Amino acid sequence: MINYETTEDVTSNDYIVAMKKAEDIAATDKSRVDYTVGSSHIHMFMSTPSCLLNSSKYKFMIHPPSRYIDVSRKIYFYTKKLTNLYNSKLDDESVKSDANWIREFLESIMQQQTIYYGNNLVYAPLTYSDYNNDLISKFRVYWDIRSKRKYLTYLNKFILKQISLEPREGFIKVMAEEGVFAGVPKEDVGTGLIFPIAMSGRVMAPVLSNFIIDLTIYPHVFLKLALEQKIIIKKYGNEITLSALNEMVYLDACISESIRLGTMSGLPRLVEKDMYLPNGAKLKASSSIKFGRFTHNRSESYFSHNPHDYIPERHFKTHTKLSDHSVYSTQWGFGQQMCPGVNYSCINMKLISSILIRKYNISKGPEQNERRHQGYELGHWLFHVNSSVYFEPHNILNYSE
Ligand code: HEM
Repeated sequence: MINYETTEDVTSNDYIVAMKKAEDIAATDKSRVDYTVGSSHIHMFMSTPSCLLNSSKYKFMIHPPSRYIDVSRKIYFYTKKLTNLYNSKLDDESVKSDANWIREFLESIMQQQTIYYGNNLVYAPLTYSDYNNDLISKFRVYWDIRSKRKYLTYLNKFILKQISLEPREGFIKVMAEEGVFAGVPKEDVGTGLIFPIAMSGRVMAPVLSNFIIDLTIYPHVFLKLALEQKIIIKKYGNEITLSALNEMVYLDACISESIRLGTMSGLPRLVEKDMYLPNGAKLKASSSIKFGRFTHNRSESYFSHNPHDYIPERHFKTHTKLSDHSVYSTQWGFGQQMCPGVNYSCINMKLISSILIRKYNISKGPEQNERRHQGYELGHWLFHVNSSVYFEPHNILNYSE
């Protein structure tokens, strides 16, 4: 089968038809894996232990071992430590202080201006990955391969110093009290902290950006979200706590729906021993496979009601929440390698979205016509082709059905 995820001028329907024809096990051209396994084998994929379908060995196979062992294993280890700490400290108060911080941060971005002269960016908000950007430019100075080591040495020293200083504040304080980096080699502290932070930005950004564009295409969805926030504000006031977040069920379903339609295939595994699928197809030992999430997420068997359409309500029918991992919710992966950042991501994506919805009417802007879905651009991530969005400050309490 051609690689539908890298070939231009093919449609999602072509891909679905080709997977069906291949009975959901397709040897894929020009792919980093040998086979793509489709929707009808999801239970096998979810339940096979890592001694048979091995994710770590696949990663060893495609990355040079020395580099991989040095960096990735350590990063995963520290990320798990930090996400466990995050999960153990999660309560109404911690979410409230996160929300206040995010609110201030988002407002500060919105108040800045971006100025273009022709196609050149002259001035941009701090968060843009532009050379004028304070934080990113600091990273960039250190971030070329030659001086990466110098940067990490600087970061290690900086964090160790912050942890040793009194009085400590915020996350540094929690990390010091909990001894997160106690016993960790000095040279790993900076890496251990910065990679989870950088990774979280990288993985949450595509989801949130697709979600925001979905709101500009489906104004009725934005209206429902605004009404949900209005009810929650009436109950909890303006502060956003964990209990308030838990009641944002429509928001949960909308982000789930944006992820469903915006997820590429993935979850690569190395086949450790010869295996047979229920349809008799053989997966040879030492071959590599991935799960065809792109076509699974559009499968009529699992997402029966117009699977190509953006319908958040479908997740109520299957009782699926954003943080779930099930046949209806494959974004976090399966088994031992499942994402440890699930809670962190769900809380933060819901926080950022609810703060934006409370403060701004999110729309396509004052264009004349209804916005049409222009499809997705497929790459490492899947992004909407539509790209503009209009944020207009509003009073959410004025919304009514
Ligand atoms: C929308 C956000 C995110 C999505 C969709 C996501 C998705 C995934 C997926 C699909 C996997 C592979 C699972 C498998 O192979 O079965 C994974 C692994 C991982 N994720 Fe996430 N992730 C997200 C956010 C995060 C965040 C915020 C962190 C860290 C703070 C994180 C840390 C990790 C780590 C360390 C692994 C590797 C686990 C292992 O191999 O043992 N993820 N994630």
